[in-house]
Amino acid sequence: MSKKMLLIKHNTENGAGLGKYYRERGWLVELVSSIAEVNALIVDGDWSPHVILANLGLSDGKILDHLEELQSHVNFSEWIFIVENADPTDLDRVGELAYDFLQKPFEQKRLDVLVARAYRAARCSQQLENYSSSSKKQYQINAYLGSSEPVQELKTMLRELTNVEISAIVINGETGTGKGLVARILHYASDLRKGGPLVEMNCAGLPRELMESEMFGHEAGAFTGAKSRHHGYMEQADGGTLFMDEIGDMPMDLQAKLLKAIEDKKIRRVGGEREIPFDAQIIAASGIDLKKACEKDEFRKDLYHRLSVFCLSLPPLRARKNDLVELVPNIIAEYNKKSRKRVTVIPDDIWKELMNYDWLGNIRELRNVIERCVLLSTDETLPRRWLQLRDYCSPTQETLAEERSSEEAYRQVNGNNRVTIPLDGSMSLEEMDKHIIRSALEQNNFNVTETARSIGTTRETLRYRIQKYDLKAAN
Ligand SMILES: Nc1ncnc2c1ncn2[C@@H]1O[C@H](COP(=O)(O)OP(=O)(O)OP(=O)(O)O)[C@@H](O)[C@H]1O
Ligand SMILES: [Mg+2]
Repeated sequence: MSKKMLLIKHNTENGAGLGKYYRERGWLVELVSSIAEVNALIVDGDWSPHVILANLGLSDGKILDHLEELQSHVNFSEWIFIVENADPTDLDRVGELAYDFLQKPFEQKRLDVLVARAYRAARCSQQLENYSSSSKKQYQINAYLGSSEPVQELKTMLRELTNVEISAIVINGETGTGKGLVARILHYASDLRKGGPLVEMNCAGLPRELMESEMFGHEAGAFTGAKSRHHGYMEQADGGTLFMDEIGDMPMDLQAKLLKAIEDKKIRRVGGEREIPFDAQIIAASGIDLKKACEKDEFRKDLYHRLSVFCLSLPPLRARKNDLVELVPNIIAEYNKKSRKRVTVIPDDIWKELMNYDWLGNIRELRNVIERCVLLSTDETLPRRWLQLRDYCSPTQETLAEERSSEEAYRQVNGNNRVTIPLDGSMSLEEMDKHIIRSALEQNNFNVTETARSIGTTRETLRYRIQKYDLKAAN
């Protein structure tokens, strides 16, 4: 991307030297000398430069009188003024509205440093704006696909919840039902909240000490390894939304600290004395039923009551299979675009399989199956051989043979990175977890970084699990 500069000088002859100087250094420079020309470029012409270098007075008026109006047309541009014998009130206005100013005479080097810094600032705000406007578009209520009855009810509730100030919401749902998606919709689709930050914190697998300092932050020297001050998730979420995923995994004593922070609207960093104000909407998600966890004394009742101002329960896909008709084409279109494929045909036998399957991994599982099929498609038909929905029907010799050749081909594409787990009740969930992690470690020669990448988790979570299951010695 080229660096763009608008040079606004008393007269163009004066500015020609500076224009040439920056053009030779790779800038795209427009040189103007009147407010009418500035308007033509950035108001009528929609041109938005990264840096605007300007003199205060021009032949047809003072640019300061038009600055706020101009700034609304060029959100990302950073203004630098070059001033000479300026009126003190004008200088105050410049200080208030511009990125910076330089008094004449100045050294070219000083201007270069200022221009480079202004360019970085402009790029940064442009990227942030792009990111948040694409998030705003991406996470509107209709991003939650489906029109079955439970989904319609959910969307009605989402519409209401995005219009009111609500201090806390609990989202319950099986894995892959869209808890993360709904949390983002609650933030970005709300005019009340989308201007503030959305900070996401995953409580799963974090060792207690780390979780505390991630949540509340810490001061330098608070514990061994705390080299500098750290602003925790709660502090970062102030004025916006804190999304606490897998909150059921939070140790009881931290739950008590969280409750106190929410009630007092204040937090204290680990090792810190000062109380810092905290005001954010909290969205807590959990794959386990928190109410039942409270009954078993595995989750604090007082915290649950504080958080469950409103509870959203997300329906599993098997309870709304008709939504597949909307979900499947949408997901295919997304992967067609990503992988430049052209799948448009879904044969009847595939629809039958999709409809008969139970989708225990919900939309995430559906997305994975479709991604695999689209990636490995060779024409416009969704290939049945990559569907591999195993528990749909008892396999015949024919389908077994087809599966074997499919697996062989899949292995050739993806390497030997599969784990087989019996789904006959002989293995507990925890044993499955251990088995998956041990197999992934073995397949990656116990390289933690590679293993974490292969199972889509973080190194911290993986290390926690390795310790928990004592998997270090390749047992
Ligand atoms: N109704 C939906 N419409 C479109 N996409 C969906 C829907 N529900 C979920 N998804 C997509 O499915 C994937 C899994 O959803 P998400 O991560 O939000 O689930 P989750 O409930 O947080 O799962 P987990 O408990 O495993 O973290 C995401 O890519 C999400 O965008
Ligand atoms: Mg999630």
